[in-house]
Amino acid sequence: MSYTVSQLLTQDITFQPLEIKGWVRGFRSNRFIALNDGSTINNIQCVVDFENTDEAILKRITTGAAVHIKGELVESQGKGQKVEIQVSSIEILGDSDPEEYPIQPKKHTFEFLRENAHLRTRTNTFSAVMRLRSSLSFAIHKYFNENGFYYMHTPIITGSDAEGAGEMFRVSSLDAKNPPLDDHGNVDYKKDFFGKETNLTVSGQLEAETFAMSLGKVYTFGPTFRAENSNTSRHLSEFWMIEPEVAFMDLAGNMDLAEDFMKSVLRYVLEHNLEDLEFLNKRLLDEEKTKPQAQRSEMSLIEKIKFVVDNNFKRVSYTEAIDILKNSKPNKKKKFNYIIEEWGADLQSEHERFLVEKHFKCPVILFDYPANIKAFYMRLNEDGKTVRAMDILFPGIGEMVGGSQREERLDVLKEKMKALDIPEEELWWYLDLRKYGTAVHSGFGLGFERLVMFATGMGNIRDVIPYPRTPQNAEF
Ligand code: 4AD
Ligand code: MG
Repeated sequence: MSYTVSQLLTQDITFQPLEIKGWVRGFRSNRFIALNDGSTINNIQCVVDFENTDEAILKRITTGAAVHIKGELVESQGKGQKVEIQVSSIEILGDSDPEEYPIQPKKHTFEFLRENAHLRTRTNTFSAVMRLRSSLSFAIHKYFNENGFYYMHTPIITGSDAEGAGEMFRVSSLDAKNPPLDDHGNVDYKKDFFGKETNLTVSGQLEAETFAMSLGKVYTFGPTFRAENSNTSRHLSEFWMIEPEVAFMDLAGNMDLAEDFMKSVLRYVLEHNLEDLEFLNKRLLDEEKTKPQAQRSEMSLIEKIKFVVDNNFKRVSYTEAIDILKNSKPNKKKKFNYIIEEWGADLQSEHERFLVEKHFKCPVILFDYPANIKAFYMRLNEDGKTVRAMDILFPGIGEMVGGSQREERLDVLKEKMKALDIPEEELWWYLDLRKYGTAVHSGFGLGFERLVMFATGMGNIRDVIPYPRTPQNAEF
């Protein structure tokens, strides 16, 4: 029978002939192979009978080599593991030159591993991160499935700019060197593949709204693309977004949903991925020890996740937040790069971080933002100057979720679009939703990689997606 390392370490399979395939993580004393196959953070120790093994084979047991082992599972003689495999035969499936193999059994910097992203999931840290990423994806689908949501696939190529920020990647099959021009000398996109200008989507929200207004409760979970030139540890040019959209739900319901959803998926990984979390927890504790006392985190990774699962998010209006920020020390002492002077100011990440990390010390839902710093589709409040928007801010991450109650009144929406120069022809179908059976509805977008960052404690978003796309970088 063939087994995975995870099966052998967690189930009672003893003293029977077994087979296993995996990669050598280390080989010491010409006897002990640390074998890993990706099924768990733990390696299984395989003990080679070196006296009866070909010298040539022993030489080929090098870090990184793929091997096929036959043997028996026995109680371990040594310390550090309960069981080990007594090897009866070993076949080298794929050699790995120990001089050249980039993943040596030692600590590598994350920068180095990013350049070797095709091999970095052979390390403990990155395999743990990717298993957690997979588990979180599953927990997300599970949550929505159990709560009556339908999974909708919204288009990746789109003719509309959902966020109105104009930061899109063009999709075109025109000859870039010699594009057809119109009478005004502009590129004639009527002659392009789709007969119009098209881009990669920044959000599936507008299409998701069409499904909410027929199926009731829906969500999307797909790739989104942003051509913003933000070279930060929290921005990707290609990232995955989860966007639920619900008919007849207002902003308060939206906040309840977002909070319940996030707690549920984090609880799932606490219950199902504890070994990986414990590994990452320890990694971070070791890293903390190298920092001066004052800069050390008050909570460990697992404590932070439990804290979020067990405590209510703080709900604060934009107006209250501005008051707090105006009276804050860093504002008065001009320590912020952007000093908050009056109501209406857009919040920078330094302000968001002050609110969640210094002031409230917990996740915060900010709501009712000024209309003119938010997207066109958000529901205008009775005060005429704020919209029913919400952002969820997390310690160490900043903005994790952006959402809102949507403007369901045709006349108000049209006026807003006019003011922002958004052509009605482009969004005729979106306006139709307000013409035929319009109703209150809401939704939000959760940046998946930011959630993975929080759950793994990784400090750079490039390290929680298999192959990060960022300005000047699309390797692999
Ligand atoms: O706040 P955003 O722009 O909201 C929307 O796109 C709405 N249409 C969502 C909705 O209401 N259905 O983006 C949502 C989230 C952010 O809060 C952030 O977590 C993440 O997406 N995000 C990014 N993550 C990584 N890299 C980027 N460049 C991101 N931009 C946004
Ligand atoms: Mg946002």
